Amino acid sequence: MTPTRILLIVGGGIAAYKACELIRLLRKEGIAVRCVLTAAGAQFVTPMTLAALSEQPVHTSLWDLKDEAEMGHIQLSREADLVVLCPATADLLARMAGGIADDLATTLLLATDKPVLAAPAMNVRMWRHAATVRNVARLRADGVTVMEPDEGAMACGEYGPGRLPEPPAILAAIRQALAAAAPIGPLAGRHILVTAGPTHEPIDPVRYIANRSSGKQGFAIAGALAARGARVTLLAGPVNLPTPAGVTRIDVETARQMADAAAAALPADAAVLVAAVADWRVEPTSHKLKKGAGAPALSLLPNPDILAGLSAGAARPRLVIGFAAETQDVIANAVAKRAAKGCDWILANDVSGDVMGGADNEVHLITADGVESWETLPKSAVAARLADRIADALA
Ligand code: CTP
Repeated sequence: MTPTRILLIVGGGIAAYKACELIRLLRKEGIAVRCVLTAAGAQFVTPMTLAALSEQPVHTSLWDLKDEAEMGHIQLSREADLVVLCPATADLLARMAGGIADDLATTLLLATDKPVLAAPAMNVRMWRHAATVRNVARLRADGVTVMEPDEGAMACGEYGPGRLPEPPAILAAIRQALAAAAPIGPLAGRHILVTAGPTHEPIDPVRYIANRSSGKQGFAIAGALAARGARVTLLAGPVNLPTPAGVTRIDVETARQMADAAAAALPADAAVLVAAVADWRVEPTSHKLKKGAGAPALSLLPNPDILAGLSAGAARPRLVIGFAAETQDVIANAVAKRAAKGCDWILANDVSGDVMGGADNEVHLITADGVESWETLPKSAVAARLADRIADALA
């Protein structure tokens, strides 16, 4: 098997020395690294250091005729599985966002057909500058993965976000990007939509209707599906959870935003709707409701039912799975809910205890064939078992 190959572009910043540590970590994993050093980068590390660590020649110039004869810049940009910029300076990000190709690094970035991961490092003000914010947004929209820099004391004496993420964190992001680029597992090639968390329905600019959903079960399911090779789109309500590896996350606030995002994410092979969507909303006021005006009467309006809509829709995924949060007659209510919503499976759970926000879950899987009660399991284990069942069903 050919080893995984990374093209590492080392930009000009004081953090360039950490690229050396990254190469060491990658080599330890058996990943082949070919380095491109920009002119600015060469002010901080030498080609000799990178060549010794990577055990490969280092490329510095577009006009190196020997390279153009033996390996053109197009080939160099495409023979890798992933292109990594470390450190990605404000200048490199700007030139990349603008499509400028005025040296070897930017020419490779324009010519490549491979995923690109950028690990930024720069002064906090440069990171926060409107131009950099705009460039990073542009690059992300273009499909480049731009990591968030670390926050802390900087070489220049200032404090804030802008430090290069630590090499082990960059390595983890590289593994994630490689997994997303060449998925393996029983769900490789499948697209699965997952909703998770609560929704917030604004009442006025400072108040909202919410519920106790933590998003933990939905996030665990999204992660378990991605770990089995699926391309996962996770629509997340307001929660405080890290994005599982390999998952594309879209943050939403209200039920209507979640419904729109779900429709936009189709087609999908399966959908797992775990979100505790608010059933009702109110027409929010543009100003804060004042106590002096007396207790307001909230008139509730129904929200769209995402699960029922998706099950009945023209672009219905082959397998539609809902959750049923019940506090009474759990199984009977969930069996009725499966029929009412038109979905294939329902996972029913009793939410009268501390399930919402807790680490464990006791669920009943309700399908056309009947009811299967699972023992109480950590949410991660519920997710793993469900992901395996989905893989079997889509096989
Ligand atoms: N659901 C949805 N959109 C809504 C309400 C619920 O997609 N507006 C989905 C949930 O994500 C879940 C399933 O429907 O997969 C059941 O949610 P639940 O809150 O148990 O049921 P409700 O439809 O709200 O019914 P009830 O509150 O009357 O039990």
